[in-house]
Amino acid sequence: MPKTKTMFYCTQCGNETPKWLGKCPACGAWNTIVEQPAASEGRKKTIADHSGAIRRPRPLQEIEAADELRFHTGMAELDRVLGGGAVKGSLVLVGGAPGIGKSTLMLQICDNLCRFASVLYVSGEESERQIKLRAQRLGIKGEGLSLYSETSLEDILGAVEAQRPDILIVDSIQTIYNTDSTSSPGSVAQVKECTMALMQLAKGMGVTVFVVGHINKEGSLAGPKVLEHIVDCVLHFEGEEHSSYRILRAAKNRFGATNEIGVFEMGDRGLSEVPNPSEALLSGRPKDTPGSCVTCVMEGVRPVLAEVQALVTPSAYGNSRRSSNGFDYNRAVMLAAVLEKRGGLALSTCDFYVNVIGGLTVNEPAADLALIVALASSFRDKSVPYDLAAVGEVGLTGELRAVHALGQRLSEVRRLGFTKCLVPARGSGKLVVPEGLSLIRITNIREAIAALI
Ligand code: TYD
Ligand code: MG
Repeated sequence: MPKTKTMFYCTQCGNETPKWLGKCPACGAWNTIVEQPAASEGRKKTIADHSGAIRRPRPLQEIEAADELRFHTGMAELDRVLGGGAVKGSLVLVGGAPGIGKSTLMLQICDNLCRFASVLYVSGEESERQIKLRAQRLGIKGEGLSLYSETSLEDILGAVEAQRPDILIVDSIQTIYNTDSTSSPGSVAQVKECTMALMQLAKGMGVTVFVVGHINKEGSLAGPKVLEHIVDCVLHFEGEEHSSYRILRAAKNRFGATNEIGVFEMGDRGLSEVPNPSEALLSGRPKDTPGSCVTCVMEGVRPVLAEVQALVTPSAYGNSRRSSNGFDYNRAVMLAAVLEKRGGLALSTCDFYVNVIGGLTVNEPAADLALIVALASSFRDKSVPYDLAAVGEVGLTGELRAVHALGQRLSEVRRLGFTKCLVPARGSGKLVVPEGLSLIRITNIREAIAALI
C-alpha cells in the first residue's frame, strides 16, 4: 500500500513545511505547525475549467466598469457593512462564534434574495428538514430557494453547474471536504482548497457566494489566515452571550470601507435590524447612578452613542484587580493612570472594572473622556447628570485632544435628547452647535472633574 504523503501546515498562516517546527518560519507563530496529509498533486478540475471559457489577459480599456453590479440583500444593515449591497460574483465570508446567528442571518437574507434571483443554500451542518423547520419558524416562504444538505465539494460544484444559481450559500466551510484530498474536513488543507474552489466558482461563473466560517478560541476565523486573503469580504458577527444585540463588522472588504457596522437584535422571530442603534444601546440606562457616562463613537460614517460604565472599589490585600469589557484593556489602564497622576484620584489602591453596554466594542480614542468621567464618578460615588455626554481624546498629560466629526457626533447626542456635552476646547470653537445643546469646553481632565464631580 502506498504510503500517504504528509506535510506540515501552520494553522495560523497556512504555510507548508516538509518537517515539524516549533515556530512557523513564515508568520513567526509558536506551536502552530500540524501534520496533515498533503494536498493531492496537480491542479484540480474546478467549475471554472468546466465552463469552457478561455481566459486570457485583457486590456484595461476593454473591461467594462459596469462589471461591478450590486444587489440588495434585503437587510439594510448587511448592505451597509458590504458597502452598499453585495457585489455580483464576490465571495463573502461570515465568521462568528457558535450560536451567534450566522445560519439564521443567511436564511433570512435568502427570503429577499430568492425574489429576484435563484438561490442555492448548501448546509453541511443541518438536514434539509431542519432548515425547512427553521424557515417556517422565521416565516420564510422562499420561492426559488433550493436547499441542499451536502458536504462533498464535488457534489456541491456539480449541483451548482446543473442549477446555475445566482447566489450560493455555504454553511459552513469547515464541514465541506474535497474527496480528492486525503486530509479530514475542517483541516487547514481542506478549508483552503474548498475556499479556493468556491472563489473560482464566484469569479468564473459570476455566482455570488456567501460562506459561513467558524471561529476559533482566539476569535479569528478557524483555518489558515490565508482564507482571509483569498476571499473578497470578511465579516465578523459578534455579540455578547447574554445580550440579544448582534453586531456585524467588516474585517476586510474589497468593495467598500471596513469601518461600518450593522446592528441586529435576535428575537424569537430571528434577527431584526436595529436602524437606530444609539437608542437601543442606551435603553435601560440607570438614572442618578455613579459610574456611567455616555459617549459618541463613529462607526464608519454613522455616529453611535455608547454607555461606558466603570466600577471602582477598594482593593483587598493591596492586590488590585482590573478588567475591561468592550474597551481596550491597556487603554483603560493607561487612562486610570492618567486620572491618578493628572486628576489626583488615588486609583492605584483600587480595583476597577470597565464595561461598555450592549456588546459594543469601543476602540476609538474619542471615548477616552467618557471612561475618565465614569471612573471618577464611581471613585467619588457621585453621579453625572443624566442628560450629559462626553466626547474627547485624553493624552498622557491629561490634556483633551480634538476629535474628528465632532459636529456629527453632537447632532446625534442632541437627537437622543441630551442637553449637555463635554467636549475638548480645541477644535470646538467654530462649530455649529445643535439647538438645545450646551457645550462644556474643557482643556484637561482636571477641569472635567471640577465641572462634574
Ligand atoms: P444559528 O443561526 O443557528 O447560529 P450559528 O449558525 O451562528 O451557530 O442561531 C442559533 C441561535 O439563535 C440559537 O441559540 C437560538 C437563537 N435563535 C433565536 O433566538 N431566535 C430565532 O428565531 C432563531 C432562528 C434562533
Ligand atoms: Mg449554524
